[in-house]
Amino acid sequence: MTANTRSDDRPVEIEDIGTNTTSNPSFTDLIASRLSRRHLFGLGVGTAGTALLQACGGGGGGGTAFPVLPPAPAPAPAPAPTPAPSPAPMKLGFNAVAKSLADVVTVPAGYTASVLYRLGDPIATSVAAYRNDGTDAADTYDRRAGDHHDGMTYFGMNASNKWDATGASRGLLVMNHEAITPLFLHPAGQTIVSGARTVADEVLREFYLHGVSVIEVNKSGSTWSYKQDSSFNRRVHTLTEMTLSGPAAKTDYVKTKYSADGSKTRGTLNNCANGTTPWGTYLTCEENWAGYFRRITGTDDTNRTAKELASFKRYGIGGIDSKTGAETGTGRELWATVAGGDDIHARWNTEVLGATAADDYRNGSNTYGWVVEIDPFTPSSTPKKRTALGRFGHEGACLGPVVVGKPLVWYMGDDSRNEYIYKFVSTKNWDAADIGGGMAAGDKYMDDGKLYVAKFKADGTGDWLELKLGINNITASYSAYAFADAADVVVNARHAADAAGATKMDRPEWTAVNPKTGEVYVTLTNTNANSRPIGKTDAANPRFYNDKTTTGADQKGNPNGHIVRFADTNGDPTAVTFKWDVYLFGARSTASADVNLSALGADNDFSSPDGMWFSQAAPGLLWLETDDGAYTDVTNCMLLAALPGKVGDGGAKTITNVDGSTTATQATFIGKAPGTDGLRRFLVGPIDCEITGIAESGDGRALFVNIQHPGENTASTNISDPTKFLSHWPDGGNARPRSATIVITKNDGGLIGL
Ligand code: FEO
Ligand code: CA
Ligand code: CA
Ligand code: CA
Repeated sequence: MTANTRSDDRPVEIEDIGTNTTSNPSFTDLIASRLSRRHLFGLGVGTAGTALLQACGGGGGGGTAFPVLPPAPAPAPAPAPTPAPSPAPMKLGFNAVAKSLADVVTVPAGYTASVLYRLGDPIATSVAAYRNDGTDAADTYDRRAGDHHDGMTYFGMNASNKWDATGASRGLLVMNHEAITPLFLHPAGQTIVSGARTVADEVLREFYLHGVSVIEVNKSGSTWSYKQDSSFNRRVHTLTEMTLSGPAAKTDYVKTKYSADGSKTRGTLNNCANGTTPWGTYLTCEENWAGYFRRITGTDDTNRTAKELASFKRYGIGGIDSKTGAETGTGRELWATVAGGDDIHARWNTEVLGATAADDYRNGSNTYGWVVEIDPFTPSSTPKKRTALGRFGHEGACLGPVVVGKPLVWYMGDDSRNEYIYKFVSTKNWDAADIGGGMAAGDKYMDDGKLYVAKFKADGTGDWLELKLGINNITASYSAYAFADAADVVVNARHAADAAGATKMDRPEWTAVNPKTGEVYVTLTNTNANSRPIGKTDAANPRFYNDKTTTGADQKGNPNGHIVRFADTNGDPTAVTFKWDVYLFGARSTASADVNLSALGADNDFSSPDGMWFSQAAPGLLWLETDDGAYTDVTNCMLLAALPGKVGDGGAKTITNVDGSTTATQATFIGKAPGTDGLRRFLVGPIDCEITGIAESGDGRALFVNIQHPGENTASTNISDPTKFLSHWPDGGNARPRSATIVITKNDGGLIGL
């Protein structure tokens, strides 16, 4: 969701509030430590000793071209498959796009951007074109594009309908539909009477518009389109049955009326960023799921144990607004309020209502907050919630370097203020024979392993703290939450991470792994002065400043965000230590030097980094997307191309933070300033959108990008006056705005961005 702005009548997101009240280290007490770049970085950057290649969210590496590497150290590194040719040394090869407030998508000269897949577009032959006026039949929406397109992967497909990562002209595009802009989905927004939804068809539309799309895409000549009648087309949504697997499956924590033995649940929700597996499946990540559940504390609290209440509080499920005294757990879209509603509505009420857990959905909210695996090549397959990866506000899950004979690793952010960065390391070692193994391969690698959380230290190193019962303070005697068993640890991963002493970060969004170095990048999109006051900065979250708008409004805290990066020790993703620096700081180019620490200029200044992904066709090329509400007085959200260096290429730095008359110094480590050769604006989106989700065709000659919720802050009172819609993109005229996937090609057919 847009971080700092909401429609007047839309609920505030939990990520904007934060529920981490622990005193976990900001290590301000450690900042006196003397920082020495030579001491920290003099040992050079360790790698696995061979090329490290992986595919994270955007391009499904694998099939015939997936980089399958030998164990490291190996007698002789197996030759990595040669990626699509790229110029050497790599150079950004386009003129920067200017900042813009126009209601269009702008790309550099020499490029073409086309709309591919819009909200409501039909994905079955029997479904009519979208009218886009709120009158389309509700029961057709399970065969239409969802809303709020987000994280996305392109899976190349060969003539035998098998996964082939090099597939350059035919593939499955799989994408998340994170949320909805209800104003534009119904004739005049949501019908709400006395706090209740009264039109079941409106709610059914919304159930279907969340989730995931699988669509077949094809290139004909130089034009890409999706195939409306493909048998691979599929929607996964809030009514789709899902299997629960891993430590939490079939435990008391997840038993519901829908599944008395806790083996399954229904639906996925608020699917934000994504991830991939080396066997060719898609990972969708449940982010701001907590707010959708209804739980009124005034009636439910007395029916709950102290542990349950501690769990609800840590995840933001139900509560009392500290300012107004109002119940906050009414449910974001009020789905549980449909009068005479049946089980598909009742299941959004996570209160104790019946005699046992098999009679109600008291545990319904425990079946959300997971990483979900989907096999796009088997449309009939049942998605699985992989509980071993922990339950929190999952942004994405980026696959680390893949090495035959070594464990697999995924890096994950928990996107809420003051939350943490995690990684999961599989118990089983990777066997390339599992390529194409579908959900069975997921059972092998994703249901058993070690879950870690990151602690960033002031000396530029860090520790991965394992989240396991009996260690790192994760015990029955932990004061804030008495852990009972292994399932409890994954269901309440936030409490476990608190207990272990993880570092609170400025809202961890996407993770990305550089295929050239194996180093991991994490966008920390922004935070505010409440969550990161001037006295609570730390080395890895070092800034406090006032980002005044052009009209003089104050925006205090870290409203522009930054990107931290780290290198696991010796290039080994299973290592329990790392070293880090801050790769890049968002800022106005006009900001002072202690705010604009990356020396951004007019061609590359940005705010609120969110989506982020390394090209696989052009290893070393990083794409960076923004979801901003701070610099939007000057520009709409954007996509930038970057050529980052490596951890330690800058140096130690002590910055001076300022809040009015108060100043404080903060020591940190910052990456080398990129200049316009290292970071350049490639695209600016339409009004009131977020740029998110990115993928490329198997040859890197097509870039797929999602434009999320243009015009989302249109006032609900203006629905009857199209001239007052904040955006009409992409259809123009008086049309309602629509989230959509675009495809970008270079007019000369070359690699994008170079
Ligand atoms: Fe859905 Fe954290 O963005
Ligand atoms: Ca958004
Ligand atoms: Ca995001
Ligand atoms: Ca965001």
